Amino acid sequence: MKNLNGVSILRYLPSSENQPLTAQLVECYRDVFSASPWHEWLKCEKCGKYWGIKDQELLASWKFHHCNSPLVDFWPRETVLSELQHEITPESSCWLACADEKVVGFCWGYHASISELQKKLGISIIANAEKYFGKQTLIAYQDEVGVISSYRGRKIAKAMVAHRLNDFLDKKLTVGIVRTRQFPEPSETYLWYKRLGYHTLAEYEDGRVILGRKLDENLFSRLND
Ligand SMILES: CC(C)(COP(=O)(O)OP(=O)(O)OC[C@H]1O[C@@H](n2cnc3c(N)ncnc32)[C@H](O)[C@@H]1OP(=O)(O)O)[C@@H](O)C(=O)NCCC(=O)NCCS
Ligand SMILES: [Zn+2]
Repeated sequence: MKNLNGVSILRYLPSSENQPLTAQLVECYRDVFSASPWHEWLKCEKCGKYWGIKDQELLASWKFHHCNSPLVDFWPRETVLSELQHEITPESSCWLACADEKVVGFCWGYHASISELQKKLGISIIANAEKYFGKQTLIAYQDEVGVISSYRGRKIAKAMVAHRLNDFLDKKLTVGIVRTRQFPEPSETYLWYKRLGYHTLAEYEDGRVILGRKLDENLFSRLND
């Protein structure tokens, strides 16, 4: 088993002084999603098909064209940057993993009212959330976690998620909600959260799913083992 040696986990706060780190976070996000299992690297604007970094050679043989037009970035830098600016505010909990002077992983989340979250997710979750957790004013939305492929399997995600959980517990947030994927292939995080006892709150037709669980010290110690 590899270890966390040489990787530091640090808190990220959006600010103008942090611009170099923000630029690295944007690159890290693009790297993570260009690899397995998402393969979101380049796309054809004409037909909507897209490919991952694993298809680099094939795309090079097509001179990076499809449908007679040049391929474009799946995640343009400006798009990623505006999403980050929208989702990571001083109120959010955001942690980065850094190694070899670059950002190799990220994890963030924020609190929201259950009705705000239902609106964002575009699927009904309130009835099931009340059934499992009672009426809640604020809940913790466990938004994103990613580690670039060459650093996976070293418990980096686990370390960042533990820091985020700590922040949520400090804010007295007691319910965590996350969106992940159940099919066609269950995502790694779906399997983790199910193992940790998350309930299914809602299922989309495309295989994505909303899970939720009471957050507590016990969950924290299981993540830390
Ligand atoms: C999913 C991903 C972040 C994992 O990163 P990683 O650093 O390789 O993961 P770790 O080494 O920390 O995982 C090891 C352990 O941490 C635990 N863990 C990590 N994050 C966790 C979380 N959010 N909740 C519960 N457990 C978690 C798991 O239990 C896992 O235990 P196991 O090895 O016994 O199965 C990485 O594969 C990735 O970036 N994938 C692409 C992006 C993605 O799919 N993100 C999720 C979107 S739904
Ligand atoms: Zn095309």
